[in-house]
Amino acid sequence: MVAKQKILITCALPYVNNVPHIGNIAGSHLPGDIFARFCRLAGWETVFIGGSDEHGTPIEVAAQKLGISPKELSDRYYAVHKEIYGWLDISYDNFSRTSLPEHHETTRGIFLKIYENGFISEGVLKLPFCEKCSRVLPDRFVEGMCPKCGYEEARGDQCEHCSTLLNPDELKSPRCAICSSKPKFKEIKHLFLNLDKLQPKLEKWIKSNEKIWSPQVVSAALGWINEGLKPRCITRDIKWGVKVPIKGYEDKVFYVWFDAPIGYISSTKEWAKKIGRPSEWKKFWQGDAKIFHFIGKDNIPFHTIFWPGILLANGEYALPYRVAGLQYLNYEGGKISKSRAWGIFCENLAGTGLSSDLWRYYLTLLIPETDDTEWKWKEFKERVNNELVANLGNFVYRTLSFIQNNFNGEVPKARLYAKDREILELGKKYAAEVKALLWDIRLRDGLRRVFELSDRGNKYFQESEPWKAIKEDREKAAAALYVCANLCYDLAILISPFLPKSAQKICEQLSAKLGSLEDVGRERINSGTEIRNAAPLFPKLDDKTIERLKMTTSKVTQYEELFKKEATYEDFSKLDLRAAKILSAEPVKGSDKLLRLKIEVGGAEKQLVAGVANSYKPEELVGKTIVIVNNLKPAVIRGEKSEGMLLAAEDGETISLVTLDREVRSGSRVR
Ligand code: 2FM
Ligand code: ZN
Repeated sequence: MVAKQKILITCALPYVNNVPHIGNIAGSHLPGDIFARFCRLAGWETVFIGGSDEHGTPIEVAAQKLGISPKELSDRYYAVHKEIYGWLDISYDNFSRTSLPEHHETTRGIFLKIYENGFISEGVLKLPFCEKCSRVLPDRFVEGMCPKCGYEEARGDQCEHCSTLLNPDELKSPRCAICSSKPKFKEIKHLFLNLDKLQPKLEKWIKSNEKIWSPQVVSAALGWINEGLKPRCITRDIKWGVKVPIKGYEDKVFYVWFDAPIGYISSTKEWAKKIGRPSEWKKFWQGDAKIFHFIGKDNIPFHTIFWPGILLANGEYALPYRVAGLQYLNYEGGKISKSRAWGIFCENLAGTGLSSDLWRYYLTLLIPETDDTEWKWKEFKERVNNELVANLGNFVYRTLSFIQNNFNGEVPKARLYAKDREILELGKKYAAEVKALLWDIRLRDGLRRVFELSDRGNKYFQESEPWKAIKEDREKAAAALYVCANLCYDLAILISPFLPKSAQKICEQLSAKLGSLEDVGRERINSGTEIRNAAPLFPKLDDKTIERLKMTTSKVTQYEELFKKEATYEDFSKLDLRAAKILSAEPVKGSDKLLRLKIEVGGAEKQLVAGVANSYKPEELVGKTIVIVNNLKPAVIRGEKSEGMLLAAEDGETISLVTLDREVRSGSRVR
């Protein structure tokens, strides 16, 4: 650790084909943020860079499935991602997009220099071609069995299971990801990055980092080196992406993993422009800054081999200092999965009404630094109640409310004894330890250490018995409260990388500004400081709340629901909604879901086909007054005429009909 240093931190740029879940947060954005906040607190020149990865087949496949363009998909999801990271207080200095022109230019510039340096060669690749879809199948467009580990769902560029980088012709039993047919192989001319030529330099670089990186990252990287690096194809036969700037390749774009990490540089350039010092990015990429990449384990080969390979071949940029590769976060005994609605999906967090610090707290303890970890609701509740509430929250609140109630709301003057001094001194000791842990990216241990200090504070408060001393020995009570108030301030600084909102709240109650690591243990809270509105920092969670949170956060919001278009009053008024009485109900032949309903609407009889059979028996429906869309264009469903649509709420498998809570005549208008 150097006293004055420049630090650049990046988190893996997420594909914007989905909403992030807690695994994405604990596995990259949150650790990156804690580390960035820590570096700022240490007084180092810090830039924290993020952005969205908008190219490549992950985006194209998702857009194709929704029937929209990749541009539309990324525009929309970019906004969602940005909002979620903002809500979670992920303090990116810039959150860019790889679809921006600045990024395309930077990518082409970097490529051209590599080309000039002789690290690009032309070659022929055997590529799967799907005759049914009549297209080449790069990367995620082709799936099959991993030749290395036998995983059945490996993709054309990488096996998700064992992280091995693949070429599509290495997949066993390949199939088209869109239509599942067996592809034919075609030989197509492409450009390759000569990783083979770069191998000696890469090996030397990896070995020089053996002491800095975690053993898992080093051994994975050396494993690939020992297998021998091969030239890697960096172009693709698709339209969405960064165009290749050389003759004969005008119709191709770069492989997404060629341009995505360059996004770190482009985002830093964008940041520099935004702060009005356009050359400032060079300090971080072409100077002596230390570059940290926070990434998930599947990204390790790209950040220890491919990306440094690009940088070495180009020769104009600094190499990463540390590649912090994280494992995975699971959820209640299983893998997080959107299709199985298993996990916590971040679009739901803001609506829970719980402060982001509560989520950050438990997620920090679950950062998969060395092994996979697991979210457990029971543990979430216990940690919030026993640690946030009963330890830190309790210490701060009992200290500040005691001062408010017994010392006229002002930190008292104090004559300190050795025992009090000893506690005050703890701040410095803990700050040094936390600093060393965080620098080593042992973020969970750092947080635990801060809570140990808070625990020491609680014990000291308890032993000092100020509630007794205030009556018998006011000076003793004053000394204890002066010490505790200063300890609260130290804790605010030390927890600020983890729980920024709570740190701010403590400072507000202490009428103080959040200081730096240097301020910890320095008695910055003087006698006479006003305590403002002491209030508990954290709510206690009960089982009912946990149940509610579980329900709301595991909801998977479908794309259509997430991006609903606004309806004008005119749109709404086009609907003719009416009360209707169900006269009869019968199953529709050949369908488990559909019922044929005869209804009466203001004297007229109509027939509807409704998908409610899983929730209602036909006889339950007869006689009910429901609400229908009366002017829906008639349709034929399973051979049955349907002259409208009934309204119902859907909650997973459960369907509940909209009925009216007072007797009205059928045909009455509903607005
Ligand atoms: O795995 C992913 O989600 C990639 N989008 C990560 C890219 S990291 C960087 F290189 F941009
Ligand atoms: Zn595999």
